[in-house]
Amino acid sequence: MKQMECVFCQKTYSLDLFNLFCPECREPLLVKSPGQLLPVHSEKKSSLERHLGFLPSDEIIPGISLGEGSTPLLKLNRLMDQFNLPEIYIKNEMLNPTGSFKDRGTVIAVHKAVSMGIKTIGTVSTGNMAVSTAAYGARAGIKTLVLVSEETSDEKLYSAAVHGAILIKVKGDYGELFYKSLETGRKNHIYFINSTDPFRIEGYKVTAFELFDQFKEKIPTHIFVPVSSGGHIIGLMKAFKELKKRHKIDKYPAFIGVQPEKASPIAEAFLKGESKYTRIKKAGSVAQSINNPAPPGGNLVLKMIKELNGQIIKVPDSEILRAQSLLALYEGLFCLPASAATLAGLFRLKREKKLDPQDQTVLILTGAGIKNIKILDSSKMVILQTSLKKLDHTISSLLR
Ligand SMILES: Cc1ncc(COP(=O)(O)O)c(C=O)c1O
Ligand SMILES: [Zn+2]
Repeated sequence: MKQMECVFCQKTYSLDLFNLFCPECREPLLVKSPGQLLPVHSEKKSSLERHLGFLPSDEIIPGISLGEGSTPLLKLNRLMDQFNLPEIYIKNEMLNPTGSFKDRGTVIAVHKAVSMGIKTIGTVSTGNMAVSTAAYGARAGIKTLVLVSEETSDEKLYSAAVHGAILIKVKGDYGELFYKSLETGRKNHIYFINSTDPFRIEGYKVTAFELFDQFKEKIPTHIFVPVSSGGHIIGLMKAFKELKKRHKIDKYPAFIGVQPEKASPIAEAFLKGESKYTRIKKAGSVAQSINNPAPPGGNLVLKMIKELNGQIIKVPDSEILRAQSLLALYEGLFCLPASAATLAGLFRLKREKKLDPQDQTVLILTGAGIKNIKILDSSKMVILQTSLKKLDHTISSLLR
């Protein structure tokens, strides 16, 4: 049985899926990394199986995976040329089965649920995790309860409902809903696979291992990650710590966590040099997937980012939307505003002269743009109309 660990007080705990926060520090517990070196199974086809030695599962249970991971790394030549940027790559997490990186975490947590005989799983989500948990719940044949914030887009709502999950839109503070769900879970024996669930976080590590492989066992200089609850960036940082512990790398990439200005409690604390964040009253960013007033992993992010010498920055909504549009126009990548925050963050560092021309940067594009089309400015889109009769004429006049 894997041990759980609080990195704040260093205490270890045995696993209890209904108590995944340190009772003393009230911070998320993590799966304790194994001490001994375990092999990478490079001959295996699936990314999960290749990295099983780094994961808290003894085996991959057939019939749970939906084929998550092994996402491409793409170089953004046109954006680099146009804006005189250093080498930029994106890790295309939009290609996961339900269109976001969440699937990498959900698959590992659902493995845990199945292996421990859990009958009902749940999640609290702004949308992407709702869709992911509902899909993997359906695949595993486990009853799934999804609690979503009021502002969740219809695209995400319907994509979760289609899998037959019990879907409840909850009015009230999103930060409080997180803790309330855990309380309900304990009472009703529902394993809530929320954003900082330690097994979810273990699944996110695989993205970092893939990057390490894709860069031929070297590391990029910067990795830009959008941050809401903090679960994703915690997983990525934990993976690099494990690589270092196993002497695979001798230094860390600079992690740049990006939050939108109107939902940036972690960035604010980072800027002030504080080790604990202060929750904000109300978050108001257009980047709905990362519009979080009270990130449950916030203090853990601050602790780990300091240790790895990274930073947490904030960017305004206007720059996020511009970045979303540039990725679509120049590179054919239509991502959510949350994901585009990474490019906005890169532009910010460039403006502040904090990037060198020889840097190699990676943006993690976490989720597909089609999950929220209502935020797009349709006044900027040109959609022409004609009749069949006038089609030739219309086209030739456009090409003239
Ligand atoms: C598209 C997208 N990007 C980034 C994030 C942030 O991830 P985390 O909450 O793990 O920090 C989320 C979280 O919901 C998301 O949906
Ligand atoms: Zn503790």
